[in-house]
Amino acid sequence: MCGIAGYVGKNKANEFLLNALKKLEYRGYDSAGMTVLNEDGSLSCVRSVGKINELEEKMKKEKEMTGFVGIAHTRWATHGCPSEKNTHPHHDCKKNIFIVHNGIIENYKSLKKSLEKSGHQMESETDTEILAHLIESHFDGNLQQAVFDCLRHVDGAYAIAVVSKSDPGKIIVAKKGSPLVIGIGDGEYFVASDASALVGYTDRVIYLDDNEMGVIEKDKYKISSTTNNNQIHKEHCKIDLDVSEIQKGGHDYFLLKEIFEGPEVVQNSIRGRIISEKGLVKLGGLEVLDQKRLRDINRIIIIACGTANYAGMIGEYMLEEYAGIPVEVEIGSEFRYRKPVIDSKTAILAISQSGETADTIASLQEAKRKGALSLGIVNTVGSTIARETEAGIYNHAGPEISVASTKALMSQIVVLALLTVYLGRTREMSMITGKRITDELKKLPKLMEQVLDTKEDIKKLAKKYSKYNNFLYLGRKYNYPVANEGALKLKEVAYKIHAEGYAGGEMKHGPIAMIDEDFPCFFIASTDSVYDKMWSNMEEVKARKGKIIAVATEGNEDIKEIADDVIYIPKTLEMLTPILTAIPLHLFAAYMGIEFGFDIDKPRNLAKSVTVE
Ligand code: F6R
Repeated sequence: MCGIAGYVGKNKANEFLLNALKKLEYRGYDSAGMTVLNEDGSLSCVRSVGKINELEEKMKKEKEMTGFVGIAHTRWATHGCPSEKNTHPHHDCKKNIFIVHNGIIENYKSLKKSLEKSGHQMESETDTEILAHLIESHFDGNLQQAVFDCLRHVDGAYAIAVVSKSDPGKIIVAKKGSPLVIGIGDGEYFVASDASALVGYTDRVIYLDDNEMGVIEKDKYKISSTTNNNQIHKEHCKIDLDVSEIQKGGHDYFLLKEIFEGPEVVQNSIRGRIISEKGLVKLGGLEVLDQKRLRDINRIIIIACGTANYAGMIGEYMLEEYAGIPVEVEIGSEFRYRKPVIDSKTAILAISQSGETADTIASLQEAKRKGALSLGIVNTVGSTIARETEAGIYNHAGPEISVASTKALMSQIVVLALLTVYLGRTREMSMITGKRITDELKKLPKLMEQVLDTKEDIKKLAKKYSKYNNFLYLGRKYNYPVANEGALKLKEVAYKIHAEGYAGGEMKHGPIAMIDEDFPCFFIASTDSVYDKMWSNMEEVKARKGKIIAVATEGNEDIKEIADDVIYIPKTLEMLTPILTAIPLHLFAAYMGIEFGFDIDKPRNLAKSVTVE
């Protein structure tokens, strides 16, 4: 999704801006641009379609950017195709005001009409350009006032950064619905849509909240309300990001690095949260709540999108089986338009790596409005979901750079298991069961290492199966969501192949028609309560000459009779098997994408953080 960067200070703006754009690359983008207010009062704007290095090359050919104030942007097309004229920064008629924007202006069509009527001429198909012209229509030399006046007419979501030749030396920022952070340096300030862009520059930040705007100059800043212009005092926060954390750590791709980080991530997610001898779990983020309110919860609705939604489905099985709480799992984009039945004993649990997924946020807000207790499982500290929920649990998975989510899934499953014990132990769950789950959780990092050690075998499998055009992934119970996840990853990362995830029992209701010798099936067939049922499904595929790749539990030699290829995982509790079975599926997708020569960190058409509907 789009990224914003801004700089005002003692150094040349383009240096930070370029570095920041590179750090924001992981969010996914199709074009990039930068505007700098030069020392001589002129203004430079360079925009280009494609990667940041293409922008960099283009900048070398243009007049040198000498200024100390600037804004930059990576764009992921929403209104209008990826093209230079649609790339940010956008400007007004006189090329005096330049703006970068994340989000969507919902009433842009009516605004455009009235601006055109009064003589403004637009060059792009974007909603953002409208804002530049709207600011121009209110501008009389004071940029802050013009932005304030403009925003009163705007419906929708935005994070913006604006500069003007006629009111130089400052950046005006504002936020509603899309994230924006101000970094505090020494005689300089930074602006970014994501704190990871600030790594190496500062660890002190101010998170702008909705309906706030800021005027940032090299030696001061002021935050005020976009509703009444009153000044707002904001606390500084310290962010804890390490440059090495966002580099590839010896791997060719972030995706591989993140898959191999799984054991460490799980360790971090459970660290300090297990009281083994009592079979209890300690979750500081939930202790802020009145515990009676938490005990009185009689229903949980999990909302999440994509991979986080599959984690939610695994959580549903865990929470119902072990904590005895009825759970429903909803896709954010569906929930937000339903009329859900919610009361004060319902908890809404939003799961999100980025904490910025628009559909998840909207669902959360809808449930809160109806009186639900709002909880979150979020990886990104200080993100919108983290701030919008009454209480929550951080994943501690570290920054996830690859667009496809892998290590976040691992930590989401672990946190859901911790939550199951936390809630279960205040209900029917015995100390013995609590202890069994927590003891097994502690063993997971070692078991995950064992699965990761099969990487060479999985690489060979990817080569062997790269000639096929379709894949079916089948699983049951805890591994049904894993089947969905395996198929999603293959579609995302090795998009030449079409894949579907299905519940094993559903195959006979339709997909079995597709099976023949050209249609391989992945079976997640760990030795558990539904293993015999999975075996019957394998028989059905074999009878139709389908190829079978099985993920099975070590010690199961029988499976070799029916499967063409087998990947073994070690034994663990049934509820925790997804953490082990998802690993080979993630690796398979990654190696398949590499086999096709794709950039597996940034698959085409995808964005890391989906901050629009
Ligand atoms: C899949 C993937 C997406 C995300 C989804 C939700 O690999 O990355 O499906 O899981 O967009 O994102 P978050 O967790 O940030 O809300």
